[in-house]
Amino acid sequence: MSHTILDDSNAEGEWWKKTTAYHVYVRSFYDSNGDGIGDIQGIIEKLDYLHDLGYETIWVSPFTQSPQKDFGYDISDYLSISPEYGDMPLFEKLVEEVHRRNMKLIFDLVLNHTSSEHSWFTESASSRDNPKADWYIWKDGKGRKGLRPPNNWRAMAGNKAWTYHPQRKQFYYTAFLPFQPDLNYHNPEVKQAMFDVIRFWLNKGVDGFRLDIISAIYEDSELRSNPLSLRLTPSDKSLSIFFQHLKNNFLHEKSFEFATELRRVVDEFDNPKRVLIGESHGDESLIRRFCHNDGQRGLHAVFLFKAISTPFKAEKYREMLMTFEKHFPEPLIPTLVFSNHDRTRVISRLGGSIEKAKLLALFQFTCRGIPFTYFGDEIGIPRVRIPLKHGKDAIAIQHKWVPQFLVDRSSEILNRDECRTPMLWNERLSAGFCEDSAEPWLPVADSFREINVEKQISEPQSLLNFYRKIIRLRNRTPTLHVGSLEIVHNLCDRKILAYRRIYKGEKHMVLLNISHQQVKNPLNKPALLSTHPPSPAHRLQPFEGRIINESH
Ligand code: GLC
Repeated sequence: MSHTILDDSNAEGEWWKKTTAYHVYVRSFYDSNGDGIGDIQGIIEKLDYLHDLGYETIWVSPFTQSPQKDFGYDISDYLSISPEYGDMPLFEKLVEEVHRRNMKLIFDLVLNHTSSEHSWFTESASSRDNPKADWYIWKDGKGRKGLRPPNNWRAMAGNKAWTYHPQRKQFYYTAFLPFQPDLNYHNPEVKQAMFDVIRFWLNKGVDGFRLDIISAIYEDSELRSNPLSLRLTPSDKSLSIFFQHLKNNFLHEKSFEFATELRRVVDEFDNPKRVLIGESHGDESLIRRFCHNDGQRGLHAVFLFKAISTPFKAEKYREMLMTFEKHFPEPLIPTLVFSNHDRTRVISRLGGSIEKAKLLALFQFTCRGIPFTYFGDEIGIPRVRIPLKHGKDAIAIQHKWVPQFLVDRSSEILNRDECRTPMLWNERLSAGFCEDSAEPWLPVADSFREINVEKQISEPQSLLNFYRKIIRLRNRTPTLHVGSLEIVHNLCDRKILAYRRIYKGEKHMVLLNISHQQVKNPLNKPALLSTHPPSPAHRLQPFEGRIINESH
C-alpha cells in the first residue's frame, strides 16, 4: 500500500494532528470546594496528573451558565461561567495553567441549540414579531386548531421534535430535548451572534472547540417531512431512526458550507492555530465532507464513532482502519474515540479485562489519528449500574417508563449517569473525588478501593502505568505521532492486526494479537513496548500487543 511522507514543518504547525487528548467531564472530575460537584479549580489541581501521563490537549465539557437540565449542554448564557464550576478569573487561570504546561485547551461549544431559559429564546417566544422572533425554528401547527406538529420529524433522543408554545401559539423545533430549542442558522443574525461567541472565547485563549451535534445545525428551510425507513433504533452509521430517514434535519447540505464559515472565523486567530472538531454521527463518506479535501477549509477533524461500535476483533478493526484511511487520508486526520460521556465505559464493553484494555490503548495510541481518552478510562472505571428511575440524566428521565430488565440486557446505556460517575482518585470515602463530608453528585463505583489512581500509580503493571508508557512513547516518537499508516495484509495469521507507521525512512511495526491464543510472532525482533511482561520474542501472548522498531 502506498503512503505519503509527511512534511515535518507542516506536522509541527498542525499541533492537533499529533496531539493526545483527554476528555474531562468537569462535573465528575475533581471537586475542590466540597459541594459534591467537580469544578474548574478541580481541573487546575489535577493538571499535573494529566501532564505527567503525557496528555497534551484537554477537552472540557461545557461549564457556561446553564440550568443544568442536560448538565451544561443547555446553555442560558454563552459568555459567563456557571457558578457551581467557578467564575471567569478562574477560567482564565485554567487557560494560563494549561498553557504554562505547553498543553492545549479545547472548549465544548453547543451551537445547535440553547436552553429554553436563554434570554434569546424567552424573547423569541414572547411574540411573532419581536426582534428575535426568527432566531429559533417556529412553525404553525397542523389541523383545525393548529395543535398537530408541523411535520413528522423525530428528535435524536427519541422524543417528538416539536413542542407547542402557548404564548406564540406555534411549535418550536428541537433536535435533542424539548428544553433545548434549535437556533435558526438560516438567519444571518444568529450566525453573527455565534461567531462573536466564538471570538470571545478565542480571545480568552482557548485553542479550539469540540462542536456539539454539528450534524443537526441546519434543517430543510421548507421543513419538509422525512421519508420513511425500516429502522427503529439508532446506529453510529445510519441516519435512520424511529422509522424515518433523517434526510431533512440532519447533515443538511448547508452544514458543510457552515463548517467553512466557522473555519474562517477561527482562522482569524492564527498564532497559535486553533482547531475545530465536530461531533457528527453518520457514515464516514458523508461526515468527511465537514473537513473538505484539503484540510484547509472546514473542520479540522470529526469524531468517528465507528470505533465505539466496532467489535473487538482484528478483522473488524482492520476494516475500520481501512475505512478511516480511505475517507481521511493525509492531509486529513481521523480521530480515535472509544468512549465518551454518552456511551458505555470502555472496560465494561471489554468484559472488565485489563489486558484487553491495554491492548486497546496500544491500538489507540499507535494508529494514525487523534486519540481521545474519556476521563477514568486510563484506570478502567467501570459502568456503574444506576436504575433508570434514579437517573439524573435527562435521557434517563425521559425513558423512565422503559422496563429495567430491558435496559439491563443492552450493552449500550440509556441512563448516561452510568458513564459519568466520579473519577476515582484514591481509597478515601468518595474515592477522593470530594471531601469526606460531601455527597458526590453521582455515586462512585463500588470497586474504588481496587481501582483508583493512587493505587495504580504504585503498581508497575497497572493500566494507568501502561497508559503513561504508551502515551510518552508516542509523544517522543515522530513515527508514531506523525507517520503515515500502512496496514499489513499479508500475515498468515488473521487474528493479528498489524500495521506500520512510517516517517522519514523510520518504520515501526505494531502487532496486536486480538485473540486468546498464543500466536507466532511474524517479526522475531525485540519489542520497544509490549502490553505484557517480557516473553520469548517469537511468540505473542494472548491479547498481547507489541511495537517493534523495524529500522534498527
Ligand atoms: C451531544 C452531547 C450530549 C448532549 C447532546 C445535546 O451529543 O455529547 O451529552 O446531551 O449533544 O447537546
